[in-house]
Amino acid sequence: MSAPAVPPGWTAVALARDIDAGTSAGVVLGGAEIVVWRDTGGRVHAWEDRCPHRGMKLSFGFVRGDRIACLYHGWEYDGTATCRYIPAHPDLAVPASIRVERYRAAEASGLIWVAAEGTGGAPPEVAGLVALRSLFVDAAAGDALARLAAEGFPGLGPVSGVEQGLFLRFTQGGTAFAVACHAVGPGACALHVLVAGAADAALIPATAAFRRAVEGAA
Ligand code: FES
Repeated sequence: MSAPAVPPGWTAVALARDIDAGTSAGVVLGGAEIVVWRDTGGRVHAWEDRCPHRGMKLSFGFVRGDRIACLYHGWEYDGTATCRYIPAHPDLAVPASIRVERYRAAEASGLIWVAAEGTGGAPPEVAGLVALRSLFVDAAAGDALARLAAEGFPGLGPVSGVEQGLFLRFTQGGTAFAVACHAVGPGACALHVLVAGAADAALIPATAAFRRAVEGAA
């Protein structure tokens, strides 16, 4: 069975600050498993989270300079997602056909965005937004966004100025929020919460209360 496809439009999958240079993370976007990694030069990459050799998750691997090495047998892939080194055959000229499926990856508005190869343009760069947190919720993306648009985060007062685009934007308690959402699967999603101005840690409990409320209603 083939893996779920990454959608063609730009989707935010993580806060940029959560993927340090020289590290990798696995994310799931609509069932598609993706490794998001940042080389030691700071450039971000997003590929299918599967080594072409025996299928190990590349997100379990190690970043070495501008390559990521698979945990299992150490095959190394460069930034073009092409295998360049096989430790068991160090003198082998590795066939260029050994490649990982690659997606577009970009940073904007403090987020890492992913899109299928061939997607044009760039994700939205909105000035003045600061990342607060990512919030993983056991509820369908549509349900979580509908509740957030209607009620906002618990305890912060009435919601106003709701706009829905790539971000759900609204104001609550004098704070302007912008929330990007990606579906993890049919009953789970991740909300990437940005605020205008400064990221106030006092807002974190309200986001946690939102998760409890929406999961309790699911
Ligand atoms: S499974 Fe990745 S190198 Fe073998």
